[in-house]
Amino acid sequence: MNDNFDVIVIGSGPGGYVCAIRCAQLGLKTACVETRKTLGGTCLNIGCIPSKSLLNLSETYQKAQKQFNNLGIEFDKVKLNFSKMMNNKNKSVMILTKGVEFLFKKNKITHLKGVGLIKDQNTVVVKDNSGKNLEYRTKKIVVSTGSIPSSLPGIKIDEKIIVSSTGALSFSNIPKDLVIIGGGYIGLEMGSVWNRLGSKVTIIEFLDNIIPEMDKDISNDFLKILKKQGIDFKLNSKVTGVTSLKNKAIVNFTENKNSKNEKIECDNVLVAVGRKPNIGVEIAKLGIKLDNDKRIKINEKFETSIKNIYAIGDVVRGPMLAHKAEEEGIAVAEIIAGQAGHVNYNVIPSVIYTSPEVAAVGKTEAQLKKENIAYKVGKFPFLANSRAKINNDSEGFVKIIADAKTDKVLGVHMMGPHVGEMIAEMALAMEFGASSEDIARTCHAHPTHTEAIKEAAMAVDKRPIHF
Ligand code: NAI
Repeated sequence: MNDNFDVIVIGSGPGGYVCAIRCAQLGLKTACVETRKTLGGTCLNIGCIPSKSLLNLSETYQKAQKQFNNLGIEFDKVKLNFSKMMNNKNKSVMILTKGVEFLFKKNKITHLKGVGLIKDQNTVVVKDNSGKNLEYRTKKIVVSTGSIPSSLPGIKIDEKIIVSSTGALSFSNIPKDLVIIGGGYIGLEMGSVWNRLGSKVTIIEFLDNIIPEMDKDISNDFLKILKKQGIDFKLNSKVTGVTSLKNKAIVNFTENKNSKNEKIECDNVLVAVGRKPNIGVEIAKLGIKLDNDKRIKINEKFETSIKNIYAIGDVVRGPMLAHKAEEEGIAVAEIIAGQAGHVNYNVIPSVIYTSPEVAAVGKTEAQLKKENIAYKVGKFPFLANSRAKINNDSEGFVKIIADAKTDKVLGVHMMGPHVGEMIAEMALAMEFGASSEDIARTCHAHPTHTEAIKEAAMAVDKRPIHF
């Protein structure tokens, strides 16, 4: 039996590592178990960080290739050094995972290396690389084991030809033809990366539009823009199987409307049809209850059905987003320390880091209709925003939805330059219960993209200045 801890966090993704740091800040003796060699979980190692690095690098390459000449920045030939680009991505991952290691040391968090298994409500067993089992006593346990990619029946991900997002972040060559199953976050982000680097990308989506849960104005316009960028879409189509050949694959799919069977031959297939919670076998053995979506059932204090065991992040209900997990990590640490931790699930922004970016917070029109809430809408295009115009980057718009009676902002949906950053202003406004009039009366610096927010807020009351 080893040290007695106040808290052992299992998993060091954005939920787990943030939770461990907050616990340590609050004076709790904290350990965090991690199976991977490096800290940071899916997000830092094989998710948000490497994908955003590749999105940035591939966008810069594409701009150099297609836009710079027209702007008066001329050079003879743009050459892609693919392995250097991938090394740059790997370097970003290394720097950030090392950063978490540094934060653990700074906060005196014990980093337990190996597979963490819950033996009982006060004991965690860590199976290290040499197969040794070490037992640790603890007052509380936080399960933050994240999620893993889902697949489809009969499709086996080998991470070489048929890949999940993990494999799609580390192709050894640029695929000539890439088929992506699923037009959600991963499909559109990774599709953008490989399309920019020269792959012929085809996205097969089961539903009749991409990013189905987003605001309809966004998904409709976004689809048109991505098609213009060269990505092919097969919507309303169900993948029925993938046959793996030696260095190729054949994707079979059926059009939902006319039941027509089609197939595409390609070099690689990316399966991006969602993720599922990563729940260890011992969770069922311990009798920890799951909810209808097979995620760990928790109450408003993040307590599972077993005393002293808490759960946060992708293993529990809600969007599988790193920043949602971080908020829960902080909240559960504060609750364990006897404070009043809280997450406002109505104000969790989401961002798709494509070009243009897509960002949203709060309700969509479809949701409000379903809930019978009367609303008004203000929309402002980046085409009428001076900063976007001078930067030659004016696709998209800002859309603000406010309550018809109270004018309180209920949802904001944006597509365009820098909206992934701009959405923070809207999240803050909503946290403070702002009305569209509050936003319209807030002075925004000129010339900035954020003026489109002010104008959209004015448009709620039908008085935008520049449109
Ligand atoms: P997703 O849920 O965003 O999209 C999956 C898509 O696959 C849906 O549009 C769905 O209709 C489609 N689909 C399902 N079955 C299908 C079939 N048989 N044939 C064709 N299409 C089918 O899931 P995704 O893209 O895999 O992402 C997983 C998670 O990772 C998401 O929850 C997302 O929140 C998170 N993520 C977030 C990012 C961000 O915040 N920027 C980036 C990447 C992932």
